Amino acid sequence: MIKQAIIPLAGLGTRLLPLTSVFPKELLPINGKPGIEYIIDECIEAGIKEIIFIISKKKIMIKNYFYNDKFYKNIIKKKNDPRIIFEYKKILKYRKMIKFVYQDKPLGTGDAILKTKKFIKDKFFLMLLPDDLIIKKNCSKSMIAVHKKYKCSVMASMSVDKKTVSRWGIYKINNKIDNDNFIIDGVIEKPNQKQAPSNKAVIGRYILPKIIFNKLSSLKPGIGGEIHVTDAIQSLIYNDEKFIGHNFIGKYLDCGSMHGYINSSLEIIKK
Ligand code: G1P
Repeated sequence: MIKQAIIPLAGLGTRLLPLTSVFPKELLPINGKPGIEYIIDECIEAGIKEIIFIISKKKIMIKNYFYNDKFYKNIIKKKNDPRIIFEYKKILKYRKMIKFVYQDKPLGTGDAILKTKKFIKDKFFLMLLPDDLIIKKNCSKSMIAVHKKYKCSVMASMSVDKKTVSRWGIYKINNKIDNDNFIIDGVIEKPNQKQAPSNKAVIGRYILPKIIFNKLSSLKPGIGGEIHVTDAIQSLIYNDEKFIGHNFIGKYLDCGSMHGYINSSLEIIKK
């Protein structure tokens, strides 16, 4: 079973400036609820028991959000409002399952994962990128079911417009397993149109093997000068580690860009 999830949260959120100049993007409201709560709820519903947040000192507000007891207790004492009591209890429930680790320089997702090394207990763990919201169907839950069946790594996949391949990690596809799943032959981070082996993009849900830490510790920075998890995955595939691409059914919302962020509330209201 997959019991632990990690969430890299140390990114600067430059695509959402000016909203993110003082405020972490993951706390920005999406239809009245901080984006990060959608991600936590997805984990809980998928059976995850522990979540590791990788934050930075600049994003300490994320930790404060879950540790604001004095504030809540004072308000509840004065007002005894059932809605506030409910929200406070929810935050306490979330807090019980969250651990915080720090990544003080934004050196990429690969570097963020390395910071969780000593906390990962089982052979496989889940990683969720908080910019990627997937609604209507729990993507992590479906991927955990695929992992249970094939006992290997699983990554979310979505078809994208060929013109946009340089925005994503792009899969090289081997055999199709069924309509929803395929064997991954390789993955390239942000290729140009000529280099792109397909139009199937990596979306931010990964079931990764613990052995990825061995690759990450010796990995050199890749495109854009960052240490990419994609490059470590490519290296594992090269060493015959099995990775499955899962064409998820839910609706994808890109909350890391201004247009996507605004649109996400509108899409969630439609639900
Ligand atoms: C990251 C990954 C990329 C993936 C994307 C999905 O890129 O590196 O492979 O396709 O998330 O959102 P970023 O959004 O950090 O540029």
